[in-house]
Amino acid sequence: MLDIPRTDALYDKVKRVIPPIEWPAFVDDIEAILALKRRRNAVILAHNYQTPEIFHCVGDIVGDSLALAREAVNTDADVIVLAGVHFMAETAKLLNPEKTVLIPDMGAGCSLADSITAEDVRLMRQHYPGVPVITYVNTSAAVKAESDICCTSGNARAVVESLGVPRVIMIPDEYLAKNIAAETDVEIIAWKGHCEVHERFTGADIRELREANPGVVVLAHPECPPEVVAESDFSGSTAAMSDYVGREKPHRVVLMTECSMSDNVAVAHPDVEFVRPCNLCPHMKRITLANIRKALEENQHVVTVDPEVAERARRAVERMLAVK
Ligand code: 13P
Ligand code: SF4
Repeated sequence: MLDIPRTDALYDKVKRVIPPIEWPAFVDDIEAILALKRRRNAVILAHNYQTPEIFHCVGDIVGDSLALAREAVNTDADVIVLAGVHFMAETAKLLNPEKTVLIPDMGAGCSLADSITAEDVRLMRQHYPGVPVITYVNTSAAVKAESDICCTSGNARAVVESLGVPRVIMIPDEYLAKNIAAETDVEIIAWKGHCEVHERFTGADIRELREANPGVVVLAHPECPPEVVAESDFSGSTAAMSDYVGREKPHRVVLMTECSMSDNVAVAHPDVEFVRPCNLCPHMKRITLANIRKALEENQHVVTVDPEVAERARRAVERMLAVK
């Protein structure tokens, strides 16, 4: 009996979201990446916003920022390739100082990470003495190093409440801070950073979607403006949205988030209809099969963090990982 080539089996998995005419363009890179991973004892960590040929066909550990950070600690690979953005690669490096961490494109940034510097955090501390600083993982290691603890969209409320204080500073995402403030009694002092992808959604978008798609269930990422979260049926991290679809099996759903998310979730849920107004993250989209292959072939681009900064930043990330 003929062996089915591995890529055929992979196509079977993604055929609902990748048209047959596009698939041949991916096969050569996928085969090369699978071989390179074995040869280099490498793993690929892929965020939920990666395109399906990356997420489903070469990703080893996939999920939201929290899952990627948690799993980065557990891998025994020698090389970690981060199919995502730079702050995620830095977090993986903080947690694995002895491993090689590669990002296929150094330009894969994040508007939230760009919105604040370490100096800004020091000034905030001077302005609010004694108030603990919670820093969203979507920041540089230098900003994390100035912080008491990190959070992701998946654990933000738990982190806020874990500190047992009446007031916290939560940086840099103003909307995440406001959305969490609506769920807790803890007072939250915010920064003015925004995600360039999620800030574009509006409450009017949701009303139009509901009118055009009767019965649609609306899930929104907490980086969306508070009016969007208020008009949605559920708000949570990318993993929480994916879990919601699996658990509730809505007949029709819209994910107010980055475009690839719906494709990746749709693969496992053929009975759910995905309505797809979405916004692309230009940073996530810099990662491609071709540059993942090149990263493994040429050992580029190596992610480094100054050891003194890394030590302080790691404390803030590890303190977050200890919050249940
Ligand atoms: P998650 O932590 O929900 O995966 O979100 C990361 C991100 O960059 C969202 O824009
Ligand atoms: Fe940053 Fe927004 Fe892109 Fe996420 S979607 S990486 S928060 S710019």
